[in-house]
Amino acid sequence: MLNIADLRRLARRRLPRVVFDYIDGGAEAEVTLRRNVEAFADLVLRPRGAAPVATNDLRTTVTGIPLAFPCILAPVGSTRMFYPKGEMHAARAAAAAGTIYTLSTFAGTSIEEVRAASSGRLWYQLYLAGGRSACTTMLERVRAAKYDGLVVTIDTAVAGLRERDCRNGMQELIGGGAAAIPYLAQVLARPGWIARTIADGGLMKFPNVMLPDGPMRYTDVPKALAEANVCWHDLTWIRRVWDGPLVIKGIHTAEDARRAVDEGVEAIVVSNHGGRQLDGVAASLRVLSEVRDAVGGRIEILMDGGIRRGSDIVKALCLGARAVLIGRAYIYGLAAAGEEGVSRAIEILQGDMVRTMKLLGVQSLADLDRSYVGSTTPWFRGVD
Ligand code: FNR
Repeated sequence: MLNIADLRRLARRRLPRVVFDYIDGGAEAEVTLRRNVEAFADLVLRPRGAAPVATNDLRTTVTGIPLAFPCILAPVGSTRMFYPKGEMHAARAAAAAGTIYTLSTFAGTSIEEVRAASSGRLWYQLYLAGGRSACTTMLERVRAAKYDGLVVTIDTAVAGLRERDCRNGMQELIGGGAAAIPYLAQVLARPGWIARTIADGGLMKFPNVMLPDGPMRYTDVPKALAEANVCWHDLTWIRRVWDGPLVIKGIHTAEDARRAVDEGVEAIVVSNHGGRQLDGVAASLRVLSEVRDAVGGRIEILMDGGIRRGSDIVKALCLGARAVLIGRAYIYGLAAAGEEGVSRAIEILQGDMVRTMKLLGVQSLADLDRSYVGSTTPWFRGVD
């Protein structure tokens, strides 16, 4: 397992097609999904030679939390579908690596179980699923379990059209019954996954969203997302229930970045949801400079989307990110080999980062700036 693509290949062999494509795919024509990755390839590195560096310091802080390296595990819904009790494994691997794990509202494992599994730093990602009163209860649980930050995702007014999921019969399989029959062969082709999933038991529920008739079901997700529209003014009541650090995820423009600054949040994540929501938006990396200029150092800027190598993290930091989030990179590892697979994904990215910084002639993260990247394409405005 030399790189993230190797972990992806192994994940593909372990998971039914419908599950693998749910992770791997994006919205509509998957233009943004591809752009996220290609933007990193378009950006060239500008090393300084004859500048040997003995040791590299990858440590930083995000919202005051010390990180051993500038890479946080992003919220990923349904993680338990990819590996038994997947959220607990991912949280443990993040803690061992000295970074933050972000638990999604749409996780298959509860807020309390993940806290019990990990003594490390945890963030909780909020969708307003189930309405304000269900979310107030949810946030009280997050606070009681001593999570270290709250991430509010703002790019999910409705679920994006994931065409792979439609063709694979995702909804029909979740709904069960006769409608699922035409799609069953892909699942039956992975008996190991079926056995692991049945033994795990907790697949079909979201224990963090407690509705009057019990935990939210998978079949309720599209409706829940459509009803869960978040507005900027929701931050007022969220702040009343949650008094810890607040992070807004899903910023694409200078306008929204300035709004987040005005709202007094601690950090933002420049993100297009990994190309899973509005197809056709720019790669996250390409809007980083615009957002950085708008924010002017007043709050911390994180980014995600398309990170598959440690050199991608270096490039994002050169363009103004304080740290990055990874989604698929660690999820491929989890699906391939549980906690060990997540640890391997992190180790690969860390190793890449150290090697890249040595080859660039850079010792610490603070030294990374725009002078270390350039582009032959016109989108990049050049060095400072
Ligand atoms: C996500 N993402 C996501 N984001 C969020 O705020 N809440 C969620 O529940 C989910 N669920 C989810 C499921 C799956 C399968 C994926 C792949 C992604 C988006 C995620 O947090 C992150 O923004 C992207 O994954 C980043 O892009 P990369 O690293 O996957 O390219």
